[in-house]
Amino acid sequence: MVKHTATSVVTIERYIIEQEKLHPEATGELSGILYDLALAAKMIANKVRSAGLADILGATDDINVQGEVQQKLDVIANEIIVKAVDHGGRLCAMASEEEPEIIQIPDNFRCGKYCLLFDPLDGSSNIDVNVPVGTIFSVVRKITRGARGEMEDMLQPGRRQVASGYVIYGSSTMLVYTTGQGAHGFTLDPSIGEFLLSHPNIRIPQMGRYLSVNDSYERLWDDNVRGLMRRYRGLDGERTPMSVRYVGSLVADFHRNLLGGGLFAYPANKKSPKGKLRLLYEANPLAFIVEQAGGAATNGGKRILDIEPADLHQRTPLYIGSKLDVEMATSMLANPVPEEQPLAAR
Ligand code: AHG
Ligand code: MN
Ligand code: MN
Repeated sequence: MVKHTATSVVTIERYIIEQEKLHPEATGELSGILYDLALAAKMIANKVRSAGLADILGATDDINVQGEVQQKLDVIANEIIVKAVDHGGRLCAMASEEEPEIIQIPDNFRCGKYCLLFDPLDGSSNIDVNVPVGTIFSVVRKITRGARGEMEDMLQPGRRQVASGYVIYGSSTMLVYTTGQGAHGFTLDPSIGEFLLSHPNIRIPQMGRYLSVNDSYERLWDDNVRGLMRRYRGLDGERTPMSVRYVGSLVADFHRNLLGGGLFAYPANKKSPKGKLRLLYEANPLAFIVEQAGGAATNGGKRILDIEPADLHQRTPLYIGSKLDVEMATSMLANPVPEEQPLAAR
């Protein structure tokens, strides 16, 4: 008898098929979008890995719709995703952080029943210094009647997402996604070019070890936010202190906290009263993932997934991660904290 010693591996394709079987009514279209995105992720991973070699580092002269200088890889990643998904007949339109308007499906391709929203390259200012970057995506069902996707289809609250996920291009490339049945992680095996199931059913610890926040904005925060951050750091004696970890790539910070427990915060501040992160391309997809993993996400007053979007590029304050830490944000931001006592009175 032959003895089988190798462990069986589950590719992302096999996993998506298995998940689809749980829904007898599924047409396979959503699965198709996820395969296409996995392919795009492999292509982007390749570009990110060889960025220094291919002389594509550095900024282009174009300014994107957010008023930021686009990195060349932003443009390339955007193009790769659009081209990977536009011809499959599954999408009716797309929206990208890098493009001001809705991206329509070319006339010669069929339109489908889903919309894709994405941040092609998150943390792109880190590319030049070899720090992990990522891709974030969100899928919603079309709700208007015509063939093409319209603004109304794009501006749906995050709770209507049917799938979301992210890819992290780090020491290894990982793709994490959810279709509402848990959050599952796959690691790219570069030797065979396949994403293999490595983190089934991710669960985020209820209370976090890590705090990710850019506290150089402290002077611009209001007192509630300042009080909350003091609490996370254990300075008011109400909580064991968290360790601070801030990469400056949302995907990288979020991923660490998802696996190890923690909270990522990008509060509103006096210069950015709505925060910096985008509701549709960053906050919503990651909020769907974190909730599926047992965590939570809020803008400080409202669950992220319940916000009614008014604009494609809308920004939102974001507190996302371990459930009890997000609840702490909700309660402390809703209740003004007392003025900080002078040192002598403590
Ligand atoms: P992007 O590269 O897609 O524009 O996103 C950058 C974001 C996010 O990844 C990160 O968490 C945040 O910007 C960092 O902002 P600060 O430099 O203000 O901390
Ligand atoms: Mn981003
Ligand atoms: Mn980006």
